[in-house]
Amino acid sequence: MELLEERIRQDGLVLPGNVLKVNQFLNHQIDPQLMYAIGQEFARLFAPEKITKILTVEASGIAPAIMAGLVLNVPVVFARKKKPSTLNDDVYTAEVYSYTKQVTNTISVDQKFLSATDHVLVIDDFLANGQAVNGLLEICRQAQVQIVGVGIVVEKSFQEGAKLIKDQGVRLESLARIASFEGDKVHFVGETDE
Ligand code: G4P
Ligand code: NA
Ligand code: NA
Repeated sequence: MELLEERIRQDGLVLPGNVLKVNQFLNHQIDPQLMYAIGQEFARLFAPEKITKILTVEASGIAPAIMAGLVLNVPVVFARKKKPSTLNDDVYTAEVYSYTKQVTNTISVDQKFLSATDHVLVIDDFLANGQAVNGLLEICRQAQVQIVGVGIVVEKSFQEGAKLIKDQGVRLESLARIASFEGDKVHFVGETDE
């Protein structure tokens, strides 16, 4: 997605440890126009598929997910990272280990928001090692929904996540795919040499 790549080149900040800071338009301050364009692009890519629900994880997945939900006219559910305060079994849960932050979160979704008749599109902002998306797919399986695919805003293609998703036979569409970082420069997959 050209618009997104341009924005990453313009406002993205490459930090040590192969981390791309996108606080200016995605992870802290949010650009609604860009998010809307992202929602339209996800809708276009998955258009032929039947989709009844979008699933993401808080916090940063919510902005792109809700725009996709707006365009596709379906509800958006976000998995919570905090354990629900009430002691009940009415939630689907998955363990998500973050290599970046070296913590394990239990993510959960209330069972009433996913049912076996749902056709679910999973959306997230970043795909790095793929643990967050993997947890969402695990919850999808517990709920026995139809998994339509995974839509990602920024994929770091040099990490394991993309392979992890595709090896499960799940369709993956990433709007920006980063091949590498070089100093403060971002190289996208398939970009032509300057
Ligand atoms: P994984 O889910 O793909 O395995 O990712 P990982 O554990 O490596 O990353 C953990 C968190 O860091 C995730 O956000 C993920 O979106 C984010 N992340 C990974 N790589 C980058 C990067 O290069 N730039 C930015 N900006 N974020 C990155 P999270 O902990 O779920 O937090 P949030 O959604 O509340 O922001
Ligand atoms: Na995220
Ligand atoms: Na994040």
